Amino acid sequence: MLPEAVPESRRPSFHRRPPRRFVPATPDSESSPDESVAPADPLRWLKLATTIVSQATRERPADALLRQHLRDTHGLSKEDTAQISQAVFGYFRWRGWIDPTLKLESQVRSAMELVAEFAMNPQTFRDADLLARTLPPWVNDAVPVSAAWLRAIQAEPTLWLRVKPGRAKALAQVLGHTRNSALPDALAYAGEENLFRQPEFHAGDFEIQDIASQAVSMVCSPKPGETWWDACAGEGGKLLHLSAQMQGKGMIWASDRAEWRLKKLKLRTARAQCFNYRAALWDGGPKLPTKTRFDGVLLDAPCSGLGTWQRNPHARWTMTPEDVRELATVQAQLLNHVAGSLKPGGKLVYSVCTLTRAETEEVVAAFTAAHPEFTPLPVLNPFHTNEPPRAQLSLWPQHTGGGGMFISAWKRNG
Ligand SMILES: C[S@@+](CC[C@H](N)C(=O)[O-])C[C@H]1O[C@@H](n2cnc3c(N)ncnc32)[C@H](O)[C@@H]1O
Repeated sequence: MLPEAVPESRRPSFHRRPPRRFVPATPDSESSPDESVAPADPLRWLKLATTIVSQATRERPADALLRQHLRDTHGLSKEDTAQISQAVFGYFRWRGWIDPTLKLESQVRSAMELVAEFAMNPQTFRDADLLARTLPPWVNDAVPVSAAWLRAIQAEPTLWLRVKPGRAKALAQVLGHTRNSALPDALAYAGEENLFRQPEFHAGDFEIQDIASQAVSMVCSPKPGETWWDACAGEGGKLLHLSAQMQGKGMIWASDRAEWRLKKLKLRTARAQCFNYRAALWDGGPKLPTKTRFDGVLLDAPCSGLGTWQRNPHARWTMTPEDVRELATVQAQLLNHVAGSLKPGGKLVYSVCTLTRAETEEVVAAFTAAHPEFTPLPVLNPFHTNEPPRAQLSLWPQHTGGGGMFISAWKRNG
């Protein structure tokens, strides 16, 4: 079974903390993975991080385990939480550099040293080593691997906010520690507050959304009053952005095959005061949730997620080439199934947060060949709006400053 993608709204690392040089204070002893750590133990964050690393598997991904442990462990300070997150993700990010014969706790400590060293002296890491050690070898056959990409995904990720149109300046003043970006409503946040507790978050003034995801809705560019279908809406990250672009006018159908995701979507839309949508279950099969004909359809398809490997490094070690093949088949089927729901002149947008050839250009070429009723629509790169539109966009993390994303579009003829 394919691993579940983890939506960015459930990412655990809300607390930003610059990497620090980590100097261990205890002997190099093996700690048995033990969840009942003593509150007074100054190294309990290291023990808990080691426990999480030891338990992470394909079926129990590190980020889900991390959330569970952080929720279930009482008395963790904000500092502990940040260090545990950094240690767990750092371990999976730097796993290829760490001596696997060391005891696991020592491996986690080595990872923290590498995190700090890379943050301070990235030039001491040679391109050749990055190319040899950062990812499993199969990835070289699936995507064009560059040192620039690897340098981007070895760094600590930026936390991106999507702000209500026109509110970026005001919100930046309230929150502090923010930086503007190439996208008008995207702010990078480098502060240490728990953003989910901010009144502005509860007022719907901003969402936590990766900058590459924000680019997808910008390519959709729906107009107020139109009718759209967000076919794989998940927890609604892009739905909220589409709705904001439509100024709440018109209608968006939001479907997903996971009921629990649609439940979360409803909570998010209520908080963001997004009302112009209708949620429906859809298993991805030929029977569509509605007979409506749409001005636009966004298929933000399930994928191998290589574009998220900076903030979700455990997935680098659990994804397989077989998964990629299986996902490419699912993507092709989903595209075929949604195609008939577009009005003549309607816009179909396909996006995946991955860059494997099989899930991007090959899926697109097969769809174009099989659907003469659709014409490929050149896409304007939201990060470089002065450049001519391209047949399709491959946005790499080193270009976005966030995740990686592939986007293409077609217009239904007629
Ligand atoms: C990339 S995620 C969508 C993220 C979402 N658009 C957002 O912006 O938050 C892909 C979604 O596709 C859903 N999915 C996976 N397989 C599916 C299928 N066969 N049919 C319909 N939805 C599917 C997953 O449950 C997941 O929510």
